[in-house]
Amino acid sequence: MTAVTTFIALFALLLSNRAAASPSNGQAVLAQAALNEILTRGAPILGERYDEGCSKKSKTCDWMAKFPDNTKLVHMNLPGTHDTAAWNYSDATQASLLRYTGPIPPASVFRCQEHSLLQSLNEGIRVFDLRYAYNPGNDTIGFYHSKALLAPQTTLEDVLFGLYAWLDKHPTEAVLVSMNFEAGSGSRNDVALQEHLYSIFQTDLAKKYWVQDNGILGTLGQARGKLTLLQRFTYNLVGPTSSRRIGIHLDAAKWTDNGKAIELVYNAAQNQIAYIEDYYYMDALPVNSSATENIELKYNATVAHLQSATVNNRDQLYISFASASHNDAEPTVSPRTMALGNGTDVPGVNHKLLPWFQAHKGMRFGVVSAYIFSLVLGDNADKAPHVPGLVEAIIGL
Ligand SMILES: *[C@@H]1O[C@H](CO)[C@@H](O)[C@H](O)[C@H]1NC(C)=O
Ligand SMILES: *[C@@H]1O[C@H](CO)[C@@H](O)[C@H](O)[C@H]1NC(C)=O
Ligand SMILES: *[C@@H]1O[C@H](CO)[C@@H](O)[C@H](O)[C@H]1NC(C)=O
Ligand SMILES: *[C@@H]1O[C@H](CO)[C@@H](O)[C@H](O)[C@H]1NC(C)=O
Ligand SMILES: *[C@@H]1O[C@H](CO)[C@@H](O)[C@H](O)[C@H]1NC(C)=O
Repeated sequence: MTAVTTFIALFALLLSNRAAASPSNGQAVLAQAALNEILTRGAPILGERYDEGCSKKSKTCDWMAKFPDNTKLVHMNLPGTHDTAAWNYSDATQASLLRYTGPIPPASVFRCQEHSLLQSLNEGIRVFDLRYAYNPGNDTIGFYHSKALLAPQTTLEDVLFGLYAWLDKHPTEAVLVSMNFEAGSGSRNDVALQEHLYSIFQTDLAKKYWVQDNGILGTLGQARGKLTLLQRFTYNLVGPTSSRRIGIHLDAAKWTDNGKAIELVYNAAQNQIAYIEDYYYMDALPVNSSATENIELKYNATVAHLQSATVNNRDQLYISFASASHNDAEPTVSPRTMALGNGTDVPGVNHKLLPWFQAHKGMRFGVVSAYIFSLVLGDNADKAPHVPGLVEAIIGL
């Protein structure tokens, strides 16, 4: 704990000294070293490309700079990634963590992305979906996708510091962070976990880097340079200490599993509702349905919700998940196959969505107003082609 506290102090110092930092400033050098250590520990989730990928030519790196401060977040199209932290989960990662997890299904079932958090930020993604639970040992908070433990040495604090550091360099940008407890991890959700989580949002750093409004999504101006919490967990075990909430509470108990059109009231007094499409498991199709059928069904469900976002409830939050899988099928239709097709002539949901977004340019889809989860971005030269331009199409560039 002492080490963490020291890091927090040094990191705060670094942020306050950044402008004045010079090689002769011993404290700044020390703070930079502390930050580097945090970022190294955070790299399995954050990624290593902290300062790269943002040339002056990049259209996506600081894309929110072009929008006026008074733009409401619910009127914007915010591209997001589903289960973001699983971006580097491969068979090799799984094998290296076997002693913690025991045998579990193949890595392709759990992996939902291919670019790290920092890389995704540079590429324009502004909504993350993080699933937490105890790391092995039950004393730090780490990241999972279901049973897949993702990075046992990386803590939630490390990753948040990395996001704060990125925001420091991109003060025009606003990032929404959805967090929920990953029950499928098999790890326990206890009083200590909830108190620890709560305490993370009480630090001075958190007060600086998290939007402090409670129960309402405000304007871009209010959210710039900060994270906004989409709280998909509850503090049900710690009671009164949770009274100082931040962000909006998308209560897991009200989030219908596999729902195509969820209406989740997050602030009854002010009539604030989130409209959510989270149809991730293609239960309407027989077990062995083809990739083509699964992709078409998911595309249909996504577009129905996006279409609704363009015409209905203009001042409310819309979240559409474009991600899904059909893991019982043989062969498995993995999240990657759903997004990118199956490597033959079958286009994925992302391919089918690109022309849809282009045809609806200028309309409100949301992402928080239409999160598009499970964007699989990148340029890996492999059999299932990626879909360049999808983020640009969502944000209307
Ligand atoms: C990604 O996973 C591979 C395989 O486990 C590992 O060698 C590599 O260090 C990981 N990348 C990061 C940034 O942690
Ligand atoms: C952590 O918690 C899990 C679930 O309650 C338990 O099975 C495991 O033994 C605990 N590990 C340690 C080191 O306490
Ligand atoms: C699905 O396909 C597998 C492999 O061909 C087969 O063993 C299984 O019986 C099929 N299941 C159903 C419900 O058709
Ligand atoms: C890809 O999908 C097509 C059409 O559903 C199917 O015929 C083919 O077997 C699939 N290939 C793989 C590798 O899944
Ligand atoms: C998807 O929507 C199209 C157009 O409405 C329809 O023809 C098709 O049957 C739908 N596919 C599935 C799998 O629901």
